[in-house]
Amino acid sequence: MSATRTWLRRFLAGTAVLLGAAQFFPPARNAGTTAEGPQSLAAVLNPPPEVRNFLAAACYDCHSDRTEYPWYARVQPAGWLMAGHIRDGKRALNLSTFAVLGKQAQARRLEYMRDAVAEGEMPMALFSALHPRARVTAEEKEMFARWTESVQTRQVVAAKE
Ligand code: HEC
Repeated sequence: MSATRTWLRRFLAGTAVLLGAAQFFPPARNAGTTAEGPQSLAAVLNPPPEVRNFLAAACYDCHSDRTEYPWYARVQPAGWLMAGHIRDGKRALNLSTFAVLGKQAQARRLEYMRDAVAEGEMPMALFSALHPRARVTAEEKEMFARWTESVQTRQVVAAKE
């Protein structure tokens, strides 16, 4: 057998062992009871159902205290990858604790959210590829932009009062 083939077989066997071992180290789960507790954006801003459904389908999995995990989250390294996105996503924006932000900061986050959705940066492309319900239509973009704008105006006015 050629040296290359021996090397390849060892490499594949080694990879299989590592992947097998990886299954014993699942990441901690983001498993709060709800994404919409008393401190959540949903509780504070009381969005209409279409906005709420949109956030639930497209954003909560990475930007709230509760992730609805697909089955493959139990398989490593997929679960680790997801845990990393959830950690970074919540650090940037946690919709379950939106109320801890002041009115101005809330308004700014709404603007970031609108821009991220309008520019197609959010939800992450890989997420939309795996979750058909999180594929954003032109109508959803427009609906979301209109809502964030209206709330932002309200927030800024409230902050000045
Ligand atoms: C698959 C996970 C995932 C989903 C789903 C997701 N995001 Fe994110 N989001 C992230 C990650 C990770 C970051 C942090 C990126 C970084 O640190 O550079 C982020 C960052 C952001 C930011 C901060 C950008 C900034 O400039 O600070 C906003 C706003 C945002 N996301 C909005 C949304 C909205 C709105 C949705 C739903 C329409 C959404 N995201 C869906 C993972 C996700």
